Amino acid sequence: MDFDRFPSPFFSAVFFILIFSHAEAYDYLDPNGNITLKWDVISWTPDGYVAVVTMNNFQMYRQIMSPGWTLGWTWAKKEVIWSMVGAQATDQGDCSKFRMNVPHCCKKNPTVVDMLPGVPYNQQIANCCKGGVVSSWGQDPSAAVSSFQLSVGRSGATNKTVRLPKNFTLLGPGLGYTCSPAKIVPPTIFLTPDGRRKTQVMMTWNVTCTYSLMLASRNPTCCVSMSSFYNSTITPCRTCACGCQNNRTCVPSDSKIQSVVGLSTPRKDNTPLVQCTKHNCPIRVHWHVKLNYKEYWRVKISITNFNYRLNYTQWTLVAQHPNLNNITQVFSFAYKPLLPYISASKSLSNNT
Ligand SMILES: *[C@@H]1O[C@H](CO)[C@@H](O)[C@H](O)[C@H]1NC(C)=O
Ligand SMILES: *[C@@H]1O[C@H](CO)[C@@H](O)[C@H](O)[C@H]1NC(C)=O
Ligand SMILES: *[C@@H]1O[C@H](CO)[C@@H](O)[C@H](O)[C@H]1NC(C)=O
Ligand SMILES: *[C@@H]1O[C@H](CO)[C@@H](O)[C@H](O)[C@H]1NC(C)=O
Ligand SMILES: *[C@@H]1O[C@H](CO)[C@@H](O)[C@H](O)[C@H]1NC(C)=O
Ligand SMILES: *[C@@H]1O[C@H](CO)[C@@H](O)[C@H](O)[C@H]1NC(C)=O
Ligand SMILES: *[C@@H]1O[C@H](CO)[C@@H](O)[C@H](O)[C@H]1NC(C)=O
Ligand SMILES: *[C@@H]1O[C@H](CO)[C@@H](O)[C@H](O)[C@H]1NC(C)=O
Repeated sequence: MDFDRFPSPFFSAVFFILIFSHAEAYDYLDPNGNITLKWDVISWTPDGYVAVVTMNNFQMYRQIMSPGWTLGWTWAKKEVIWSMVGAQATDQGDCSKFRMNVPHCCKKNPTVVDMLPGVPYNQQIANCCKGGVVSSWGQDPSAAVSSFQLSVGRSGATNKTVRLPKNFTLLGPGLGYTCSPAKIVPPTIFLTPDGRRKTQVMMTWNVTCTYSLMLASRNPTCCVSMSSFYNSTITPCRTCACGCQNNRTCVPSDSKIQSVVGLSTPRKDNTPLVQCTKHNCPIRVHWHVKLNYKEYWRVKISITNFNYRLNYTQWTLVAQHPNLNNITQVFSFAYKPLLPYISASKSLSNNT
């Protein structure tokens, strides 16, 4: 990593790859990627159930970045959430019908967010409380999970009478995900830590959410500029490569970083706050050809962040090139192929 002319939070990361030529390209980028939500009913209560909800990110390279996920659904009947551990509903709604015990949330369509790190232990469960940040499967499978627990009331209290929540929505952050209806699946079986006993939950249902670039944004969110050792001309990103519709809110590059309002405070709708450039992109990837021999070529990639709202400490760059199936040397980077489509592309990630 090389910190270039921009002070924090801008950075420029640099790496080199040495590649042998001759290869075939296939245009597959994570066709099986999805996020699953698994609801495990761990116990029935007099008026409902207690469920552990587990979100698994099975996408190879798309993580859920700060400010994290937001999950919503619509109750099938008049259910309420008595309590939650490891997450919270953002709006309690109208609980005026309740006199003694007041539920955590009475809304027909609750909106739930993860707790921030450092909440008291009695409000935590395993894999919770990461501010909604979930790693991608390709980057770190052990961190590609997020969980919370909720106690549901005024609901069916047997596997015959319970009604599944409907109309799941997932912001990851910002638009992009579409979720399937919940589907009853075989109950999850857990092994005790010593591995000597199996336990089974009462009932399980799954929801699968898939990502669509078309839904996420009208415009690209990064652009590529190019240069090479044998020609001093730099081919810049195309003007308005990421659209210029909203460029009136951009921040002139000569402004003092400290004075920028909204610095390092990402928004739930993922709207960037970009430095004014001709391309108007939050991210620019520069591809500089350093060497070009018959047997191999070497490229230096620099990534520049023009978005004042995000630091991108854990990020992944996915590059597709016919030669990337034979990378022989990678400098200053962790990289891995997007298996099983080895010949198509590589995903490169920063592990700092
Ligand atoms: C979700 O992704 C996993 C892992 O790639 C895959 O095994 C599963 O079939 C996918 N589910 C759906 C419904 O696409
Ligand atoms: C339900 O989701 C879990 C991951 O959250 C997955 O392991 C399991 O295979 C899914 N079940 C079905 C039937 O899709
Ligand atoms: C409900 O539970 C009974 C046993 O208590 C089981 O036989 C049945 O398959 C379950 N039904 C569903 C939909 O899980
Ligand atoms: C599903 O949720 C979306 C967003 O919360 C809402 O606009 C829509 O009306 C809901 N649909 C149903 C059938 O509840
Ligand atoms: C460098 O590239 C530019 C733009 O592609 C081209 O017009 C120019 O002739 C090139 N110069 C040399 C020395 O190849
Ligand atoms: C916004 O984009 C237009 C081109 O569509 C350009 O003429 C204008 O200078 C840009 N404004 C800023 C502030 O960059
Ligand atoms: C960005 O980095 C700065 C300095 O390292 C830190 O204070 C800030 O909390 C970070 N912001 C986010 C959103 O990660
Ligand atoms: C990858 O590079 C090695 C080392 O030179 C070479 O022997 C091999 O044929 C190359 N494989 C492909 C698929 O190009």
